Order: sequence, then C-alpha cells, then structure tokens
Amino acid sequence: MGNIIEWEQDTLKNFTHDDYLVKHNLHEHPVFSDEGLVKILDAYPRDKLEVFTMGKDPHGWGQWCLGRHNNLSGAELMEAVKNGRIWLNLRGTNKAAPEVNEVCEALFNEIEQKTGVNTFKHDMGMLISSPKAQVYYHADMPLVLLVQIRGTKKVYLYPPEDPYLTDEQMESIAIKEKDEQLRPKPEWDNDCLLIHDLKPGELLTWRQNAPHRIENHDCVNVSFSTEFLTTEALVRANTLYANGCLRRYFGMKPSFRNSSPLMNYLKVIYARFVKLMGGYKGKNTLPIPHFTLDKENLGKLIFDNDYDASVLN
Ligand SMILES: [Fe+2]
Repeated sequence: MGNIIEWEQDTLKNFTHDDYLVKHNLHEHPVFSDEGLVKILDAYPRDKLEVFTMGKDPHGWGQWCLGRHNNLSGAELMEAVKNGRIWLNLRGTNKAAPEVNEVCEALFNEIEQKTGVNTFKHDMGMLISSPKAQVYYHADMPLVLLVQIRGTKKVYLYPPEDPYLTDEQMESIAIKEKDEQLRPKPEWDNDCLLIHDLKPGELLTWRQNAPHRIENHDCVNVSFSTEFLTTEALVRANTLYANGCLRRYFGMKPSFRNSSPLMNYLKVIYARFVKLMGGYKGKNTLPIPHFTLDKENLGKLIFDNDYDASVLN
C-alpha cells in the first residue's frame, strides 16, 4: 500500500507543535466506501453509539442534546442523518471494527516514520452528521487528527491561550469537571488561526487543546476525529490535572505557562497519586437523553414530553 498522506517538504514538519492542513487519500479507501460505512455502523456496539441534536446559534453552547438511537440499523441511521439534524458519535471505532483499526495503525505508523514522532492511545472515532449540523466551541484534551471522508464542514480553529482558553478551563477539561464545551465570544472569530472548509481528502491537526467549532455545509458529513497522545501531551494533560486538583483541594492558583519542567514532573507524580486514590470526583451527573430517533420516519426526532425542544431553535 502507498502512503496515506501526501508528503511534501514541510508536511507535518513540526507535528504536534503547530497546526496543519494536509492531504490524505482515506476518502477513497475501500473500508470507507458507502457500503463500508454502513458495515462499520452495523458492527458498532449499540450501547456505545451516541446520538445528539443541537440548537442553531453558532456561538451557542448549552443546546447540545443527547438522544436514543432506538436500535436503528446502519442503513437506517444513515438515512436518519441525511433527513434530520443529528450528530452520531462512534468513539473508538477502531476498537469495534478491525478494518478501521488497520487503517488507523497504518496512518500513525506512516506519521511516525516520516516525522519521528511516536504516538499512542489511538482512538479513531467516526462522526456522521446531518446537513447544517454543528458542534459548539470546545477544546479536547488529547491531540487530534480530523480526517474528512464525506461532505464539507467549516472548521473554526482558535489559539490555545487566554482568553480563548484559560488555565482554569484547561484544568476543568483535564479533570473532566464538565463537558468540553466553553462559552465563546462571537468576535473571537476574527482571531481564528484558521477558518477552513474541510473537504474529503483533507485532514486537520492542531496544537493540543486548541479550541474549535464546526459548521457542516448543507450535506451529510463523515469524518474521523482521531485522538492520540505523545509523551509530551500526556505530561501536559497530567500537569493540568494536578493543577486542577491543587486549585480545588488546596485553593492554590497554579499557572500552567509559568510552571518549570521539574515542577511539571512533580505534578505528574501527584496526578498519578490522585488517580490511584480514585481520581478527582468531577462530573457526577450523566447527560440525560431527551429524544428518540423515529424508526418509521427516519430523520424525525421524537422529543420526550417533559423536554422543551424550543430551546434548540
Ligand atoms: Fe473536538
């Protein structure tokens, strides 16, 4: 098999320390043909399959709503995505489908070979989403390769620094205190590192924790949010975890940016200790589903009687 990524002189030259838009050929891979995508959906464990809908304000943040997939088949889910306003999240698709895992490992092996950067904890999550669906402003703790397979989505990428992302917000994500969603200011769009219409055959990767939001064009989108870590990224995640605990347990005011390497090393040990003791007890409420996918009318969402769906307008 040839290369997955189109390598030019400066492609991923400073991988994980800079933001890159590069070309790949996975959208033409037989594993991701229309039949292949349905097969992956069919094989994916239903207890892990997440379905969401969302409001329409691009700078909103609270209108992200969990639903029930109602045991729809792969083909039915695809039809529901096409007709509705939903976002399917298949975390760890590489663990559920061996053919996806093969592609995932080939991709990271190729990157390591070309850049020398060793990565681990690979999680290739398939995202299948409706025309004009969106994902609100948020930041992820791992590093990410966003691989576009079908459709076009507009990606807004913001700097991973104050005020777009404060120390306290990074800590909050590290200790899983709340969901990754943050409240953005509309004028921050002027400060974006990049606003790009991501098309099949393109992938984006950014510095750890860079906030981003997504707006689908008027077409079904299939992407892989491929999360991974490097040793450096793991140290950062654990340092932020330790800072989060120090702030909450002891009222300290740690600063990630002013922390020395030795201090970070001690913090990683402290984070390990807290995790061994059971970890920080952050988010203790699981999200509650508020709608069910209609099996008869694919794409229709049946909202629970006690849920006011007008908040999604
Ligand atoms: Fe993300």
